[in-house]
Amino acid sequence: MPSATPEPGPYRIVLGVAGGVAAYKSAELTRLLRARGYEVEPVMTREAARFVGPTTLAALAGRPVRTELFDDPTTPIPHTRLGQGADCVVVAPATAHLIARYALGLADDLLTATLLATRAPVVLCPAMHTEMWESPSVQENLATLGRRGVLVLGPDDGALAGGDEGPGRLVEPEAIAEFVTRVLEGYRGVLTGRRVVVSAGGTREPLDPVRVLTNRSSGRQGAALAEVAARLGARVTLVTTSDRPLAPDVAGAVAVVRVETAAEMAAALEAAFDKADALVMAAAVSDFTLEARPEKIKRRDGAPNLALLPVPDVLAGLAARRRPGQVLVGFAAETTDVEANAQRKLEEKDVDLLVVNDVTAPGAGFDHETNAVTLLERGGRVERVSLRSKAAVAHAVLGRVAWLLDRGAR
Ligand code: CTP
Repeated sequence: MPSATPEPGPYRIVLGVAGGVAAYKSAELTRLLRARGYEVEPVMTREAARFVGPTTLAALAGRPVRTELFDDPTTPIPHTRLGQGADCVVVAPATAHLIARYALGLADDLLTATLLATRAPVVLCPAMHTEMWESPSVQENLATLGRRGVLVLGPDDGALAGGDEGPGRLVEPEAIAEFVTRVLEGYRGVLTGRRVVVSAGGTREPLDPVRVLTNRSSGRQGAALAEVAARLGARVTLVTTSDRPLAPDVAGAVAVVRVETAAEMAAALEAAFDKADALVMAAAVSDFTLEARPEKIKRRDGAPNLALLPVPDVLAGLAARRRPGQVLVGFAAETTDVEANAQRKLEEKDVDLLVVNDVTAPGAGFDHETNAVTLLERGGRVERVSLRSKAAVAHAVLGRVAWLLDRGAR
């Protein structure tokens, strides 16, 4: 989205380049952004200049490269000029160090000062070794930035410097340029005017007035989906079993319906579904319930015989009465034969997209701030989303939802 006071003329991109081997790809990115008709203002950290020549970037951008807060004789406050004038700030590559400085709010060079001084959308494209990418510090810093609305693209999974392989590779420049175009043309508002219903948390089935049958879902991924959907412009209804407060910037834009049992969740979703454009079913709904005893089950009466009763599949039930154009997203928590089970669920539940969670994978699933998922789509598209903050996973899921809605789904 253009900044608050858009001026006529081409979009202005501040391209931040931090010090990592992938910095050499910023030259190609500059060329691609220029080819799309954008003005590119390259800002390098001091370390970046060890990996790619400022002269190369300056030649491709058609303007000087800046690094220091005080190296521009025409202005003593270049960061405010750059930050205010930008339609989008892209940092590619974003190193662990740059991400940490940004999350902390440090402004010790021109790039970090510009990041603080801008109201334009910021896209971070991380690139680093897998071990660094997966470290809690990097993930927590990105989660913090995600909560503040910073967009994170990548990293990809693939060959890394030094012959290693894994998540941490900079997203290809062409894909970054395409993402920037979508941001400029309203990617953040890509769900504007859409109604999105999100379910979250684990349902609780009472055994008696004291005890419940439940599961380990924390509701964090569902809350992140509701928050990100609201930031992308949707009107959101969150049906949840969790009391977790939402991020302050979106709390007012999300209607929260608190439920406990699978039956209450089903009723709330049924009420919201017909008006919804998309349903994102992140809740862990119980497959079984029981007839709750009206009084507390007493120890002295011996182990009770508890008969479990099946709960209908809420998602499959809603999918059966979908109207054309609605997009349905299911989640699958699996521990074995992950993708085969998930493929079956995609078909049986008749959803458009299935988000598959291997809940035994390190750092993923219940009780973690991070998640790693695979997105399976009707038609065979498969996208692996490696370990990242739950907000970044939400961006990946909702990006596909927006695409499916735009295409007219079914
Ligand atoms: N789901 C649902 N109603 C249920 C159980 C699950 O709507 N009673 C939804 C979940 O919200 C999720 C999807 O179905 O989006 C898959 O949930 P999961 O527990 O992985 O699958 P199940 O169909 O319950 O299969 P199983 O537990 O046997 O793996």
